[in-house]
Amino acid sequence: MSGLLRKTYLDSDLISTVFHFSEVGSTNNIAKKMILKEKEGGFAVISDIQTAGYGRRGDFWESPKGGLWCSLAIKPDINPSIIGLIPIICALSVSKALESHDIKTRLKWPNDILHSRDEAKIAGIIVEGKVSSKMVEYIIIGIGINVNIELEQFSPPLRNHITSTLKIKRTKISLEELLHTIIFYLEEGFDKMKKGEENHILSQWKQRDNILGRKIVITSNNIEYEGIAKDLTLYGQMILELVDGRKITFSSGNVKLL
Ligand code: BTN
Repeated sequence: MSGLLRKTYLDSDLISTVFHFSEVGSTNNIAKKMILKEKEGGFAVISDIQTAGYGRRGDFWESPKGGLWCSLAIKPDINPSIIGLIPIICALSVSKALESHDIKTRLKWPNDILHSRDEAKIAGIIVEGKVSSKMVEYIIIGIGINVNIELEQFSPPLRNHITSTLKIKRTKISLEELLHTIIFYLEEGFDKMKKGEENHILSQWKQRDNILGRKIVITSNNIEYEGIAKDLTLYGQMILELVDGRKITFSSGNVKLL
């Protein structure tokens, strides 16, 4: 880890402090270490560059300068039974924040954010945490958004599948402002979740959903399931209708569109 550049404070009930680094391995790993020491949750770790950023399948997440690479560490006072909604709320918040910059997105369950024009991936989210059957101890939300980056800054195979806000709009976006907007929408989403307004959250997701009604393959625990993405449950799980008509519910998994 090199250099804490600055520490700023936010007027937010969810995230009160932002630690901004110049270079780290992974903001998620830094946030995990920090939350074990902090008495309170509610902070963000952001870094200009990550040298060992990782994605949901443990794969390397390329993080050159210009992207928003951040992790939000929170200790939410929620029942573990509704935890499946958190990735949904996070993806929605990123999508709304990008929309506020006139970038239209589609959501690919569980938490990929695609550009609406060509379905190229613009952002990804990984949600980790310590959760028992009785309580949610902490949650780390890792968010990676390709913002002020030319596609040439990524390795050749990756460039063909992704996009960036710079590629789409040709103008730069303030990373800190984007982060603050995401936090604003996250707070809004958490409030809705606590009030039991799951249907409202889901209907906002469905307006942006990219896979419901489509033929997909979900890989979960190394097994592939092919079927139609039928619907989401109230808590954000995917209901897949298999070829033989049986329905299976997934809390997470890797989705391939057919
Ligand atoms: C995915 O689509 O697989 C999720 C990618 C999440 C990447 C972000 S970048 C900031 C944070 N730190 C990490 O190491 N990963 C997440």
